[in-house]
Amino acid sequence: MRRPNARAHHPRGESQEAAATTLAPPPRPTISSAMGSRRARGRRLLAALLAAAFAVALLLLVPRSPRRRPHEYGVVIDAGSTGSRVHVIAYRSSSSSPASALPRIDWARTASMKAAPGLSSFASDPGGAGRSLAPLLEFARRRVPPESWAETDVRLMATAGLRLLDAAVAEAVLDSCRVLLRGSGFQFQDDWATVISGAEEGMYAWIAANYALGTLGDDSQDTTGIIELGGASVQVTFVTDKPLPPEFSHTLKFGDATYNLYSHSFLQLGQNVAYESLHDMLSTPGHKSMATHLISQAKYRDPCTPRGFSPMEGAVKLPASVLESKVEYRPYAHAVGNFSECRSAALTLLQKGREECRYHECRMGAAFVPDLDGKFLATENFYHTSKFFRLRSKSFLSDLMLAGEKFCRGDWSKIKKEYRSFNEGELLLFCFSSAYIVALLHDTLKVPLDDKRIDVANQIGGVPVDWALGAFIVQKASNQTDMLHPEGEKISPEDGIRHGERPVHHNQGETMSLARRRWDLVELLRWGASDRVCKFS
Ligand SMILES: *[C@@H]1O[C@H](CO)[C@@H](O)[C@H](O)[C@H]1NC(C)=O
Ligand SMILES: *[C@@H]1O[C@H](CO)[C@@H](O)[C@H](O)[C@H]1NC(C)=O
Repeated sequence: MRRPNARAHHPRGESQEAAATTLAPPPRPTISSAMGSRRARGRRLLAALLAAAFAVALLLLVPRSPRRRPHEYGVVIDAGSTGSRVHVIAYRSSSSSPASALPRIDWARTASMKAAPGLSSFASDPGGAGRSLAPLLEFARRRVPPESWAETDVRLMATAGLRLLDAAVAEAVLDSCRVLLRGSGFQFQDDWATVISGAEEGMYAWIAANYALGTLGDDSQDTTGIIELGGASVQVTFVTDKPLPPEFSHTLKFGDATYNLYSHSFLQLGQNVAYESLHDMLSTPGHKSMATHLISQAKYRDPCTPRGFSPMEGAVKLPASVLESKVEYRPYAHAVGNFSECRSAALTLLQKGREECRYHECRMGAAFVPDLDGKFLATENFYHTSKFFRLRSKSFLSDLMLAGEKFCRGDWSKIKKEYRSFNEGELLLFCFSSAYIVALLHDTLKVPLDDKRIDVANQIGGVPVDWALGAFIVQKASNQTDMLHPEGEKISPEDGIRHGERPVHHNQGETMSLARRRWDLVELLRWGASDRVCKFS
């Protein structure tokens, strides 16, 4: 958990480490009996000279480094449905040109750590929520040098788990976190701990993906859309020039570029929650009352589990989802492993609520989704499933269909032998997830099976495609604000209320205005999100 470069609390730890990693040790003389002793002595002399040269270089370099502060830090806590993850991001501020106004992240010094359970599990004990963050903040304090703490922002953004809670309860949970964050030593304001909307989460992920691809700031048609299949929700975000109903239309401005994004989060359609809903649907055919259902204990067909699986083999825990109380295999299910049946059941689930459609077409539930334009990145459970089946990322869908068909009709005891390193609960999901992905991407979103525009990945060139990274980038690309918000320097009374009376750094006007500009950009993104132009007639 603690990497070697976690020694950051040493005041000069950074520069010394940098020196230690960039300067290779002098070559050691190889002692070989075949070699003449003179030659060996010559090598030793050379080695000694090299060592001396390195020592001089070190002496020249080290005392100068502490003046130049090479890194700044940002701390982002992603409070998800199954756990909270802290990201400690080391970066260098952008240089002057707008094209490079994005922070340059130093991945070697960037790290994250996750703690379970998620904040939503503290609904009945909000006070415990704050305490659950303590190890994460401890981790962040070890990674950020103490002299940088006061200039390091810590933000907490909560997603699906808290979104599903009653608003007052969610606020109590956040309040308990705020107490801890205020005392963390990092820079913090109460409104930096929030529940973000699904569309914001999608937009941050889109920003992270395009940052990683180097297309953030480029023309709209050069950007890449993103589809995330999480445990609780699915997010779809991409640039489109198609007319959008206002509630799906989001404008994002980055430097000179303005992006018209479709972004929507489909709550309850994430893989784990969908799996539970599918079993609910299969086990309650027609209008059979709960009572008769329990009395008869009639078995129901479960096409999404390979034959031979029997829950009598002991309690099988599925990977945790938001619906933590329900994550056990249903005892009355009769596993009949059939990919095409499972796929059509998944499709029924994806189309549920369609009768309430208010648009000319609803592809997923009652939500509008335009044709997918351009290139796409499919992340999270798309990636995990693709990796499990060892698919090449280009003809992803047709390969997944073949692999899923084979897996679903397989015999459970053979599957268990083939995938020894997986536990039963994990294995159990893959027949469903392969069928669900085909139903979602092909049957629902109309992506052709041989489509090569979709890349399945969780990272690009070592950069994780993670919405928390996108949120961080938005905070740090402060220079862009001026272009977007000419009156940004004026502080309105409203702003005063929103920011709270924070007596931080009043002797350093510079810092305050920077912090304000960062805040402005976050606000602008929010504002952009609500800047919906109804192009529908
Ligand atoms: C960006 O901000 C930094 C720090 O405030 C400043 O030095 C730099 O000139 C700015 N660049 C632009 C393009 O405004
Ligand atoms: C799977 O189900 C479909 C549709 O019900 C059926 O046509 C097909 O024969 C089944 N396949 C197997 C292997 O049982």
